[in-house]
Amino acid sequence: MASCLISRHFALSLHRNVRLSAPACRYVSKAAPKTQQDYDYNGPSMKTTVPGPRSQELTKQLGEIQNVGAINFFCNYEESRGNFLVDVDGNRMLDVYTQISSIPIGYNHPALLKLMSNPNNLSTLVNRPALGILPPENFPDKITESLLSVAPSGMSRVQTMACGSCSNENAYKAMFIWYRNKERGNAAPVDDDLTSCMINKSPGCPDLSILSFMGGFHGRTLGCLATTHSKAIHKLDIPSFDWPIAPFPRLQYPLEEFTRENAQEEARCLEEVEDLIVKWRQKGRPVAGIVIEPIQAEGGDNHASPDFFRNLRNIARKHGAAFHVDEVQTGGGATGKFWAHEHWGMDDPADIVSFSKKLLTGGYYHKDELQADKPYRIFNTWMGDPSKNLLLAEVLNVIRRENLLEEVTRSGKSLMNGLYELQAQYPGILSRARGQGTFCAIDICDDATRNSLLLKARDKGVLLGGCGDKSIRFRPALIFKEYHVHMFLNIFNDVLAQHK
Ligand SMILES: Cc1ncc(COP(=O)(O)O)c(C=O)c1O
Repeated sequence: MASCLISRHFALSLHRNVRLSAPACRYVSKAAPKTQQDYDYNGPSMKTTVPGPRSQELTKQLGEIQNVGAINFFCNYEESRGNFLVDVDGNRMLDVYTQISSIPIGYNHPALLKLMSNPNNLSTLVNRPALGILPPENFPDKITESLLSVAPSGMSRVQTMACGSCSNENAYKAMFIWYRNKERGNAAPVDDDLTSCMINKSPGCPDLSILSFMGGFHGRTLGCLATTHSKAIHKLDIPSFDWPIAPFPRLQYPLEEFTRENAQEEARCLEEVEDLIVKWRQKGRPVAGIVIEPIQAEGGDNHASPDFFRNLRNIARKHGAAFHVDEVQTGGGATGKFWAHEHWGMDDPADIVSFSKKLLTGGYYHKDELQADKPYRIFNTWMGDPSKNLLLAEVLNVIRRENLLEEVTRSGKSLMNGLYELQAQYPGILSRARGQGTFCAIDICDDATRNSLLLKARDKGVLLGGCGDKSIRFRPALIFKEYHVHMFLNIFNDVLAQHK
């Protein structure tokens, strides 16, 4: 959070200066020089309100086939470039949400287009293998070049999967298998284990649990959903497990101004974690694993300190539970480090780290001992997609070549500065600006105002996302430069100024 500290001091002094020199004027963000790639557009260009007529027509058509309640508008991916998403009505919008945080280096990056037009890569695109049984010759090399080149500290094994939920679901299974093998002293399962599991009974299907946190989001499949606690709509009507749910710290921002209060809040939550672990063991449902996001994203961009995570990791170790860090949304560079957990400064931060989104393929890294002992225990037909490893290897080249993590840190500071200024200017609307890198958020006074601001910003050519009860989250691509930050701030300022 050092970056936030610096940026806040900067923002406050800048804000004071702005107020002194021009007390009645609206904040106008300073233009940063455009150093952007030639494949990016210069700015938004709006032809209709969004969704425009063509989008509405297509929504109606698709509505005959699917539930379209969540569709925002239809896109023209051929025309989209860099930080700009173009829709089917010809509207070009600055994308600060990037398909729920899943576009690492913008739309149609030339390096990726070149890779895909290389005839040598055609067979990887055309033939999707069942990777668990029939991988292609270059698979070990490609996985080493892509995923293993960014493996978290202490991990040299990775299992690819399709999406974030599928990655977490299988990571949970790996934790349970590891835990039971430990309990059995690594002996083979007995007949009773094998027959009872066929009818969903113990001991073959043991009463184990995973501890998760209130406000956390780990996906919508059945196991993951038992650890997801962000919104009722995700969970309603779905049976679930009796697994412990700990409170996630509710911190006050800016963090550096509330260190004492926040430390107390974190201590309270950690105490509760230990109590729950003991309670669930007494209930006969021991905690085999703890799962947590480094920043709770879907649940409202809730932060906790490195100290909190270090203590939690130690609690997991002390109680013999695996520690699973879900980096599906935070992984891939948006916090200014490739993995958000690198900010904790630990040599041994986790037993499992799951990923998806900006990594283009899902999957999880794990410690050697969490490798399933037999084939087909962690398995599905595709187990990932080699064409995504190909793309990821090139994305990583671009990140290194263009120093994108440094860019993220720089843009993140500008974004936080701007948010602090806007927050000071619109105290009735904005509060609790927070962030790491460009992984930032701000609270709006209420849910209805938040939703209205999101729509107004979109009609002015800026795409943003909501999270939690009343927050706006910023999830730009790694190529979002200071120039784009200022473009966003000026448009958002206009939206706020016009808000009645
Ligand atoms: C932290 C986290 N975990 C898991 C998931 C689930 O990923 P997916 O939607 O790919 O299943 C998400 C999705 O937003 C996420 O943010």
